[in-house]
Amino acid sequence: MIKVAVIGARGRMGREVVKMVIDAENLELVSAIDRDMLGNDVGAVLFNQPCGVLIESELQTSLARTGADVVVDFTDPNSVYSNACIAINNGTRPIIGATGLTNDQIVDLDNRCKEKGIGGLFAPNFSIGAILMMKFAAEAAKYFPDVEIIEFHGDQKLDAPSGTALKTAQWISENREFKHQGNLKEEETLPGSRGGLFEGFRVHSVRLPGIFAQQEVIFAGNGQALKIRHDSYDRAGYMPGVKLAIEKVVGYTGFVYGFEHLIMS
Ligand SMILES: NC(=O)c1ccc[n+]([C@@H]2O[C@H](COP(=O)([O-])OP(=O)(O)OC[C@H]3O[C@@H](n4cnc5c(N)ncnc54)[C@H](O)[C@@H]3O)[C@@H](O)[C@H]2O)c1
Repeated sequence: MIKVAVIGARGRMGREVVKMVIDAENLELVSAIDRDMLGNDVGAVLFNQPCGVLIESELQTSLARTGADVVVDFTDPNSVYSNACIAINNGTRPIIGATGLTNDQIVDLDNRCKEKGIGGLFAPNFSIGAILMMKFAAEAAKYFPDVEIIEFHGDQKLDAPSGTALKTAQWISENREFKHQGNLKEEETLPGSRGGLFEGFRVHSVRLPGIFAQQEVIFAGNGQALKIRHDSYDRAGYMPGVKLAIEKVVGYTGFVYGFEHLIMS
C-alpha cells in the first residue's frame, strides 16, 4: 500500500484525488490537509461517507505523524514550492498538480529530491489527451514556424497563461528555429491585446465563467492552417493520470517536470 496525503483536499481537484485514493485498492489515504473544516472527517465533509481521516492544516506535522509516502498537491501557485520543500524534508515525495513553479524552483526541488534519494513530480496536466496535443504541436512546429496558442479556463483561475500553455510553448520553441512572428512594427492600441510573447510567438489566455479547460494551437503558413485542439470536460478525467503518477513516483529518484516523462519514453 502506498500511503498518500492530499493537500488542498477540499478543493475541486483535491476532492477528486481524495475519492480516487479512497477507492484505489493499492493506495491508502493517510492525511487530508486544507485551511478550513479542520477536525472534520474528510470523507464526511466531501461525500457524506466518513473515512477516518480528519482534515488538518499543518502539513509538516501531518506528514511526520502519518509517514506518508507521497503528497499530492492541488493548492495554488503561492503554496506549492514551500509545500514541496516541507514534503521533501520529511522524505515524502511531492506530486504537484497546481501550477506556479518557476524553472529555478524546479531545479532546486530536483536537487533536494536527489539529496534525499526520493522522486517528485510537477505535472501541469495529468490528461493523456493534453499530452498528445503538446506532442503533436511539437511535431507540427518543425514544419510550420508560425504559431499562436489560445488557452481557455474558468474566470477564477489565478495564473495566466496556464501551465499547459507554457509547457506547449516550450515544446514548440524547442522544435522550431527562433522566429519573431508578425509585423515588427505592430503596435498595441489596447495594451495586452496581442497576448504574451514567448520566444517570438504569442500565447493568449481567455478567462470566462463556465469554461473548464481547453487549448488550441494554431499553425499557419503557405495558404493553410493546422489547428490542434484539446477539450477537458471533467476533473475526474485527470485521476487515472494522478493514480499512475503516485504509483510511479515511489520508483525513481529526482524531480520530474511533466507527466509525459512518466508515460512516454
Ligand atoms: N495538473 C492538472 O492536471 C490540473 C488540472 C486542473 C487544475 N489544476 C490546477 O490545480 C490547482 C487547484 O485547482 P482547483 O480548481 O482544485 O482549486 P481550488 O481553489 O478549488 O482548490 C484549492 C484548495 O487548496 C486549498 N489550499 C490552498 N493553499 C493551501 C495551503 N497552503 N494549505 C492547505 N490548503 C491550501 C484551498 O483551501 C482549496 O481548498 C490550480 O493551480 C489549477 O490550475 C491542475
